[in-house]
Amino acid sequence: MSMKKCKVYLLIALLGLAFSACVYDFEAVEVIEEIPDTQVISFSETIIPIFESKCTSCHKVGGIKPVPDLTAANAYNSINSSTYINATTPENSLIYTKPSPDGSHSAKYTRQEAAFVLAWINQGAQDN
Ligand code: HEC
Repeated sequence: MSMKKCKVYLLIALLGLAFSACVYDFEAVEVIEEIPDTQVISFSETIIPIFESKCTSCHKVGGIKPVPDLTAANAYNSINSSTYINATTPENSLIYTKPSPDGSHSAKYTRQEAAFVLAWINQGAQDN
């Protein structure tokens, strides 16, 4: 394909994206990015930032609910047990169900965050 043609296609694609983003915004629908089977979810890069942004205000030493401790240094050891991770039925894991977007916990995952947490458990809940 010529460079010019390529640029035109890119522009059309970008315009399409921008437009669909507006439509979704307007309808206030959360668009969930599909997680391909080949995409490895990293505990440190994907899950820890979720915990730090919305959980560690309470789930830390000295917080109102120190167990599980969800701070970066302690989160893995703190949730690496059958209490929080159900290896047989990942979707029943407490670390996934408790802050469910449809639940009543004081902090909730977005649907995208919940999908990341579930995918991470499905992939063996590794300290990766
Ligand atoms: C405003 C404080 C607060 C925030 C923020 C918060 N939690 Fe909690 N969490 C609690 C309290 C209090 C409890 C105990 C009462 C209950 O079970 O609802 C709890 C309980 C839990 C439990 C069950 C613990 C057990 O051993 O039974 C899990 C799992 C949990 N929270 C995960 C999270 C996650 C993940 C986040 C972030 C998305 C989060 N919480 C954010 C206060 C908080």
